[in-house]
Amino acid sequence: MEEKMDTIFDLRNVSYSYLGKIEALKDITIKINRGEQVTIIGSNGSGKSTLLAVLNGLVYPTAGDFFAFGHPVTEEVFDSIKENKFRTYFRTKVGFVFQNSDIQLFSSTVFEEIAFGPLQLNIPLEEVKARVEDIIEMMQIAKLRDRAPHTLSGGEKKKVCIATVLVNNPDVLLLDEPSAGLDPRTQLWLIELLRELSHAGKTIITATHDLEIMDMISKRSIVMGEDHRIKLDDTPNRVLSNYELLMESNLVHEHMHIHGKLVHEHLHDHDAGHTHVHLKS
Ligand SMILES: Nc1ncnc2c1ncn2[C@@H]1O[C@H](COP(=O)(O)OP(=O)(O)OP(=O)(O)O)[C@@H](O)[C@H]1O
Ligand SMILES: [Mg+2]
Repeated sequence: MEEKMDTIFDLRNVSYSYLGKIEALKDITIKINRGEQVTIIGSNGSGKSTLLAVLNGLVYPTAGDFFAFGHPVTEEVFDSIKENKFRTYFRTKVGFVFQNSDIQLFSSTVFEEIAFGPLQLNIPLEEVKARVEDIIEMMQIAKLRDRAPHTLSGGEKKKVCIATVLVNNPDVLLLDEPSAGLDPRTQLWLIELLRELSHAGKTIITATHDLEIMDMISKRSIVMGEDHRIKLDDTPNRVLSNYELLMESNLVHEHMHIHGKLVHEHLHDHDAGHTHVHLKS
């Protein structure tokens, strides 16, 4: 029983294919425990977003079993129109930030967008307003408060999406490429935010292409191969030092070199030899 409590997500031989033919996940077996921070890396189309969609109960394994909080997540449980306690529990515990912000934003102002989730949970209006104000301040988006979300820049939209999830104070955060399209200062701010949330005991699962942030936001990295299988499930450092695997999984290219935690890119210029671009130091 104890063990069950600590295991938040348990996937056993999970496969998923879209429309019964486009393979996205193959034979995925992983457990994710409460309070863990995990990054998922892999090339385009390897299955990262699909894995997060399974974890968020948006799609159901075509083969294998998925348990969340010790409870099976199946279409029967999740898609039934009938009110159902487990689904409500799941939805209050798990927050999802989509890779594409436009899917997530639909209100007429940023303020309403952030207030929507808590209002759905029947929280009193005054409390909702106070929570939204707190989140707006924390996310440093006060100047966007009355803007229409669809008119925001990509990075601004991303921040609002993160705010709409954090305002519900979920225990588990599923983030699909949260740092993509953010400027360096905003990226750093996001990393710090994720570290604070980690210290607060949140379980955070982040799909990313950004090898540099892996060890800053996680202690465990799952590498998805182009065959949609897990290639390695280990510490970020051990993943980063496995150059062959990174090459084979299309995560680095031949001009990129990783020395310890340092990622170098050799941009070959045939006249001037090559330059080192320090992606991280
Ligand atoms: N809605 C969909 N319908 C059909 N096929 C899909 C759908 N979504 C994803 N796929 C396919 O499933 C596979 C896995 O896609 P997924 O989006 O999970 O990859 P990803 O690792 O998140 O890629 P990226 O790095 O580009 O975000 C790909 O072959 C993709 O074309
Ligand atoms: Mg994706």
